[in-house]
Amino acid sequence: MSEPKDNPLMEKIVSLCKRRGFIFQSSEIYGGINGFWDYGPLGAELRRNIRDRWWNDMVRNRDDVVGIESSIIMHPKVWEASGHVAGFNDPMVDCKVSKQRFRADQLFFARVDVIAEQADAANAQTIGYVSALESEQTEGELQEKALELKRKKAVRGQLAPIAPLDFTQAKPEEIPLIPSPATGEPGSLTPPRAFNMMLQTYIGALRDESAVAYLRPETAQGMFADFKAVVDTGRVKIPFGIAQIGKSFRNEITPRNFIFRSREFEQMEMEYFISDEDDWAKWHRHWIDWCRDWLVSVGIPAAQLSEYNHPKEKLSHYSRGTTDIMFNYPFGVQELWGIAARGNYDLSQHAKFSGVSLEYFDETAKRKYVPHVIEPAVGVDRILLAILCSAYCEDEAPDEKGKMETRVVLRFAPRIAPIKVAVFPLLKNKPELVARAKAVRDLLRPHMNVFYDEAGAIGRRYRRQDEVGTPFCVTIDFDTLGEKGDDLKDTVTLRDRDTMKQDRLKISELLAFLLSKIR
Ligand code: GAP
Repeated sequence: MSEPKDNPLMEKIVSLCKRRGFIFQSSEIYGGINGFWDYGPLGAELRRNIRDRWWNDMVRNRDDVVGIESSIIMHPKVWEASGHVAGFNDPMVDCKVSKQRFRADQLFFARVDVIAEQADAANAQTIGYVSALESEQTEGELQEKALELKRKKAVRGQLAPIAPLDFTQAKPEEIPLIPSPATGEPGSLTPPRAFNMMLQTYIGALRDESAVAYLRPETAQGMFADFKAVVDTGRVKIPFGIAQIGKSFRNEITPRNFIFRSREFEQMEMEYFISDEDDWAKWHRHWIDWCRDWLVSVGIPAAQLSEYNHPKEKLSHYSRGTTDIMFNYPFGVQELWGIAARGNYDLSQHAKFSGVSLEYFDETAKRKYVPHVIEPAVGVDRILLAILCSAYCEDEAPDEKGKMETRVVLRFAPRIAPIKVAVFPLLKNKPELVARAKAVRDLLRPHMNVFYDEAGAIGRRYRRQDEVGTPFCVTIDFDTLGEKGDDLKDTVTLRDRDTMKQDRLKISELLAFLLSKIR
């Protein structure tokens, strides 16, 4: 995947996010900290809208899903039972010269073979290796580097086709020959090592092994650990789900692509428990469709979404099937939401490690069993990035003098937009206009996020709101005050972000109109 600086669209989105207060680098005044991000005033509103919508649709508006909030630090045994202590690893490669660290499955290499004139491909001569980090252009980059190597070594003949492999596939004897992507020279890369991605901390006064605890790498284990408590107290009946929204932490080796892969991020996960005899494939499909529809409901175009079914041979032994909903990010098609059918592995593991039975007594079937689970798991930050990428748009609009100029606009779905409506008095030095505009702001404010702005020419104020995706702007002018007669008195100009059309609307009808658009 390419970084924002190599991708013009991502660069524009990142710069807009910073300029307009959506997303900042964490601790920026200290030079930032890699893999951590802060959300500014508009980003915080957008995040909240995503979370609230998910919570309403997933929990409040359903009879079969309840919500919890479990602690970020849980008993360390939770992570032994879940398999994270032993298996939550990424293969990692160090460059001993540059001190950079790469994920082995994101570092690609290729053998450079040259076929001498009049020789056949079977007699190709290996002249060295090339390497490149994963991106949309990995293959092209390897090809270019191979040509460069051939030129440098002044070897005659034809380059054999490049066959890229990732570093986990390198044979031990090849490792010293593969150049580091950081230095371009071979000999400094280490063999891949398993690197546990859980962030550790210590609980209590002692700093020894007995005090080790982990920041959760997923919220899901909270739902499994609390399963019994919810069943005992919640009057839930299978099939039912337990959902939660919360921060998760992973010591990602290569956090990248803005907020796409961070070390601290927020997940929205739901564990849907079904009978061991139920048709898991039907429920799996049900939840894939639900997630897809939900993404469309927050403004992500269906055409930008696709599905990826994990191949059977790559699934964990307990998994029945995992499907990822993929989004076409500017840096490539990547995982947005994973929907996994996990059998009864998690509850069985926790029963084994805790010694507490997690069987469920099914009153209808009159029998006990360990429920199976379907898990839709998504990151708030990845949804937010997908929403930003699908909303970003440049079109043409007339400036103050009627000359066409490029307009940057975020076409957020009104229900997800951070600001729903901006209210402007036509002029800031006319107290009657200002007072009336403030009254309109106060009328709308209890129902939605309203932004009041009186600075600058009206056209510039519209542009500022277009750039942050405000779907509606309301202007209070002299007509509102009744200066052109009673017909237009108590009406305002309502301007639509996408069509840029302006209509007159009675103030008394404004709230109902806006509510109908944002709900
Ligand atoms: N409980 C299952 C689980 O956590 P996952 O595929 O590792 O599965 C679920 O994570 C979702 O969390 C992903 O689909 C993605 O949306 C989000 N996510 C995972 N790692 C992330 C990271 N480092 N940064 C941002 N979001 C991440």
